Amino acid sequence: MNPPTTQPGFASSLETALRRSVPLIYGVDRWGNGYFGVNAAGHLVVRPERGEKGIDLMEAVRELEAQGLPAPLLLRFPQILDKQLELLNEAFQSAIREFDYENTYQGVYPMKVNPQREVAARLVAAGHKYRTGLEVGTKAELFLALGHDTHPDSLLICNGFKDDEFMEMALRAHQLGRKVIIVVEQVKEVHSYVRVTRRVGVTPLLGLRGKLYTRGSGKWEDSGGETSKFGLSTIEMLEAIRLLRSEGLEDQLAMLHFHIGSQVTDIRKVKAAVREASRVYAKLRELGAPIRYLNVGGGLGIDYDGSGSSSDSSVNYSVQEFANDVVYTVADICRHDEVEMPTLVSESGRALTVYHSLLVLSSETRFDANLQARVEFDPEEKSPLLVEMTEILEEINVKNYREYYHDALQRRDELFSLFDLGYLGIEERAQAELLFHEICQKALHYAMLTKNRSEDFVLLAKALRKKYVSNFSVFQSIPDSWTIGHLFPVVPIHRLDETPTEYGILADLSCDSDGKIENFIDAKTYKDYVELHEARAGEPYYLAICLLGAYQDIMGCYHNLFGRVNEAHVLVGEDGEVRIECAQRGERIRDVVSMVDYSADKLIENVRQQVANRVADKRLDPEAGESILSSIERTIERTTYLRDHHNAPES
Ligand SMILES: Cc1ncc(COP(=O)(O)O)c(C=O)c1O
Repeated sequence: MNPPTTQPGFASSLETALRRSVPLIYGVDRWGNGYFGVNAAGHLVVRPERGEKGIDLMEAVRELEAQGLPAPLLLRFPQILDKQLELLNEAFQSAIREFDYENTYQGVYPMKVNPQREVAARLVAAGHKYRTGLEVGTKAELFLALGHDTHPDSLLICNGFKDDEFMEMALRAHQLGRKVIIVVEQVKEVHSYVRVTRRVGVTPLLGLRGKLYTRGSGKWEDSGGETSKFGLSTIEMLEAIRLLRSEGLEDQLAMLHFHIGSQVTDIRKVKAAVREASRVYAKLRELGAPIRYLNVGGGLGIDYDGSGSSSDSSVNYSVQEFANDVVYTVADICRHDEVEMPTLVSESGRALTVYHSLLVLSSETRFDANLQARVEFDPEEKSPLLVEMTEILEEINVKNYREYYHDALQRRDELFSLFDLGYLGIEERAQAELLFHEICQKALHYAMLTKNRSEDFVLLAKALRKKYVSNFSVFQSIPDSWTIGHLFPVVPIHRLDETPTEYGILADLSCDSDGKIENFIDAKTYKDYVELHEARAGEPYYLAICLLGAYQDIMGCYHNLFGRVNEAHVLVGEDGEVRIECAQRGERIRDVVSMVDYSADKLIENVRQQVANRVADKRLDPEAGESILSSIERTIERTTYLRDHHNAPES
C-alpha cells in the first residue's frame, strides 16, 4: 500500500495559517489600539497615525545600532501623542453635539504623568487647536509649565498640597498672563490664598477639590472615597466658601474638581463619580457659588491586556463611552436642577501618553542544549537507574506522559539519594539532571496539548519557564511592574512569522530577585509565562515592552545604578519614510555615580593614588598600574548595561 499523500499545497497553507496566528498569541490587535501591527517580514510595526504607514521596529533598531545606540532602547513615537490628543478631544466634541451640551470641553495635561520636556511640548503644540492646558501638583512642575508655550485661553491648574511659596508662584504665573486656577486641597490653603493675594495684589481663580463618596476601581481606587488623603469634605467645602465670602473673594471661585484615581477600570465608577460631582456642583451653584468649570480629573484607563474587562490591567469602556458618560451625566443633572452647564475639564494623562513609548531590549537564554554531549563517563559504570531514565525519555508519549513523568520523578529522587550516599559519580548526577530536564519538557509538551491540566503539570510549567536574561532594569524602566505588579504587553519585535516554542519569563540585570517579569497579559486574566522563540546562538533576540509612556519614565529609580537607556524619537513622514530624531545616548557610568554624590573624577584620582601606593611598595608593576588606570577610565565612559548581549555560545 502506498503511503497517504499530502494534498498539494496543504502543508504550505497550514504553515501560513500557523504563521498568521503568531501575532494573536501576543494579542497585538487587542491592546494595540490600532498603533501596532506585524508586517510580512514578521516584524512588529508601529503605525503612529493608525493608518497604513508604519515603522518597522527591527529596522529602526538596526539603524540606531549602526549609529552606536544599541538596546536597551527607549523608542518614542511623538505622532501618537498628537493622535491620542485628537481622539480625546474629538470624543468630547462628539458627545457635546450628541447630548446638546450647552458649554464646551477643555482638557489639561497633568505634568506628573510624563514630565519629559519633549512629551509635554508636543502635547502643548498639538493642543493649541483644542486650548489644551497643563496641570501641576508641585512647585517644580509649575516651574516646568511656565516654560511651555500654551494657548492663551488654556488653563493652568495648580493641584497638590500648597505652601505660601507655591501659592505665590501660582500668582506670579497669573501675572505672566497664564489662566491659573488654584485648586484648594485643604482649608488652610484658603488662608494661604487670602494672605498671599493680599501681599502680591493679584487674585487668580480658585477651585475646590471635593472628596467624593464614590471610589474608583482598580489599583488606584484609594485615591478616591471618603478616606482619601486628597480633597475637602463637604463641611470643609462650605467652610472654604464661607471664608472666601468673608474676605470678599467669593467671585474668584471658579472650579469644582475631583479625581477618583488613575486607571479606573469600571465605567460604572466613572458614571457614579460624575453623577455625585454634578450634584455637588449644582448644589453649590444654588448656594450662589459662581463655579463655572467642572473638572473630572484623570482616571481614563487603558486596556493594557486587551481583554476589555474591568480587571486591573484593562477597562470595560472606550474613550468615547467615557466622554459620553461625562457629558450626558452632567447635562442631565444640570437640566434637572436648572443650573447652567459648566465648562468641562479633564486631566487625562495616562490615556494621552501611554501608547507613545516602548522599550526594546535584547534577551538571551542560558541553557545550552549541547552540554549533554559533553558529559563524559564510562557507559559500563552507568547506573541502572540512568538506563531506565533514558528509556523513559525515549518512550514517553501523549498517552503515557503522566505516568512516565511520575516514574521519572521517583528515579530522580533515587538517583539523588545514591549520590548523597556516595554511590554515584558527579558526571552521573549531571547526566541525571539533564535526562530529567528533557523528560519534564516532553511531559509538559504533552500536558499542554490537553485541556485540563492537573496541578502537578501546572507547577511543572511554572518550574520549566525559561529565564530570558534581558539587558534592562525593571527598577529603572518599568517601575510599576515591580511596585504594584502592573502588567505591560511583552512581544518580540521580530520572528513573528515563526511559532514560538518556549515558555519564558524575563530576568533583568539587577542583582535583585525582584528584578524580573513573570506575569504577562492574557486575553482572560494573566499568565505566568510569555511565549518566546528559542534563542539562536550569536543572534540577538529583541523584545519590546510596550505601553510605557505613562508614569514609567519619571518613576524609575537608580537601583544598582542602572541609568537611563539610549533613546530616540521615531516618526513617519507623509511619504511613509521613517525618520529618526533626537537620538541620544543613555547615561554612562560616569553620569550615574553622581546620583549618589560621588564624583567620577575624584574616584579616578583615588584609584590613581592606590595604584601609586602599590607601585611604591613594589606590590604592583608600574605597567600593570597604568593598565588598571586606563581600563577603569575607559569603562566609566561606557554604558551601565551589557554591551555584548547576543546569545553568544559559552565555549
Ligand atoms: C489630580 C490628578 N489629576 C490627574 C491625574 C492623571 O490621571 P490619569 O493618568 O489617570 O489620567 C492624576 C493621577 O493620578 C491626579 O492625581
